[in-house]
Amino acid sequence: MRSAKDFFRPLAVGAPAPVRDVPFRPSRMIHFFDPGNARMAAKVPALVPQVDVLLGNLEDAVPADRKQAARDGLVAVARATDFGDTQLWTRINSLDSPWALDDLLTLVTEVGDRIDVVMVPKVEGAQDIHYVDRLLAQLEARAGLTRPVLVHAILETATGVANVEEIAGASPRMQGISLGPADLAASRRMKTTRVGGGHPGYLVREDPRGDGGPRAVFQQDLWHYTLARMVDACAAHGILPYYGPFGDIQDLAACEDQFRNAFLLGCVGAWTLHPAQIAVARRVFSPAPDEVAWARRVIEAMGDGTGAVMIDGKMQDDATYKQCRVVAGLADALAA
Ligand code: GLV
Ligand code: MG
Repeated sequence: MRSAKDFFRPLAVGAPAPVRDVPFRPSRMIHFFDPGNARMAAKVPALVPQVDVLLGNLEDAVPADRKQAARDGLVAVARATDFGDTQLWTRINSLDSPWALDDLLTLVTEVGDRIDVVMVPKVEGAQDIHYVDRLLAQLEARAGLTRPVLVHAILETATGVANVEEIAGASPRMQGISLGPADLAASRRMKTTRVGGGHPGYLVREDPRGDGGPRAVFQQDLWHYTLARMVDACAAHGILPYYGPFGDIQDLAACEDQFRNAFLLGCVGAWTLHPAQIAVARRVFSPAPDEVAWARRVIEAMGDGTGAVMIDGKMQDDATYKQCRVVAGLADALAA
């Protein structure tokens, strides 16, 4: 039953946009590993202290004849590892595959108390989240779990993008949404053959110059539109947005650029597919100390958060105060 409190928002003078009241847990990098690969599974204890989230991947990149091995490997890793403050997530197979049901049955029944978040690929609409939500509720009740397993959707089909708002608000279990640029490119029939990042052909060219000299070209971001839509949907529903994978492991500079664009737009983390990307994600998704110092200066100068002040020639008011609270608040939460 809806109560009066659903219809009234608290007064928000000085407060940034509200987020759902879930305890903050860092998730700057969601580090993927293949739990069916014994060599990778053996490295898990060394990886745990380096990452915010470790994700046992059961979906794409795990061949069809290794699905059971990956599932069993994840159960073994979940039981054997002390995760400390690091979260354990899994990416199950998509709901239109023959494996998703067994993934959920096995994991929630065997190690549901250790899994924080289930990432669901190729989500197309609220109905997919409702299905997973119901199934999780049944399996949790049967296993006697007291803490709900949360749900994270990958935005990687054109239909999913069209329905991103209903996906974000589909269940109180929703933790966040990641951009899945590789599948999304295929679903949209884009003419790329890569995992995330830009493309040298996607550019705009400077107007012809009067002197006939060479014209500058500017590469554009293929993912800006989708990221912005996803961030708005997540913010509106108080859940967290993430950049997904960046497939060119050698190109850490381009990886950093994509992650930073996502961070500046509102994302809180990205996937890391190789240990080399972990430090990049940690650096990018932690606010820079000079930005934090500036934000604290503005907060201090703005007093109760209303009115306007000039600092170093720049006008600050209620709105910049709220932005600064976002930046300083993130720094405080990460330091806690
Ligand atoms: C991730 O799953 C992607 O398709 O990019
Ligand atoms: Mg995908």
